[in-house]
Amino acid sequence: MSQYQIAVIVGSLRQDSFNRRLATAIAKLAPAEFSFKQVQIGDLPLYNQDDDAHQADSVKRLKAEILAAQGLLFVTPEYNRSMPGVLKNAIDHASRPYGQSAWAGKPAGVLGVSVGAIGTALAQQHLRNVLAYLDVPTLGQPEAFIQAKEELFDQDGNIGAASKPFLQTWMDQYVAWVKKHVG
Ligand SMILES: Cc1cc2nc3c(=O)[nH]c(=O)nc-3n(C[C@H](O)[C@H](O)[C@H](O)COP(=O)(O)O)c2cc1C
Repeated sequence: MSQYQIAVIVGSLRQDSFNRRLATAIAKLAPAEFSFKQVQIGDLPLYNQDDDAHQADSVKRLKAEILAAQGLLFVTPEYNRSMPGVLKNAIDHASRPYGQSAWAGKPAGVLGVSVGAIGTALAQQHLRNVLAYLDVPTLGQPEAFIQAKEELFDQDGNIGAASKPFLQTWMDQYVAWVKKHVG
């Protein structure tokens, strides 16, 4: 088993999501001691505080997967200049009941791709704000605001040649960030 297991949270439920493709492709740039698992958030109920004492099985599963991971990777689109509701819903679920958040202390990276020119910059900033409150240490640099272009992925779904050097640097920094926090 890999030494560092990373829970990947993709903020899009779309079948052909650019962000899911990015999450899958960038994982291949990590060393073998890292393994990445995309956690399911599409089957979570809408968060309702009344349910804190009896969380749904899908919520318990999400929390268990986060708790078992050594690090987190958020890969999200931008919806109306913020993070998508499905992502915030997942974050809220795993932060509760009060005092039993699954997120605290897990080192994280934040990435995103969108069709817009500023490439999820505002969604990422909102997400970082939430993660700061949840005590999630988040890699600050390099930032990665990626615009969806034809050549972002090659024919095999790997990161395309033009973006690879930058995203390899991003991954190297992310790996160092996780190791620094996990030891
Ligand atoms: C409800 C909605 C709001 C959106 N708002 C933004 C936005 O604020 N900024 C942006 O760059 N793109 C926006 N987009 C376009 C997304 O970048 C585009 O749909 C992208 O493909 C979503 O990511 P995905 O491919 O991973 O699902 C929006 C799309 C939707 C459906």
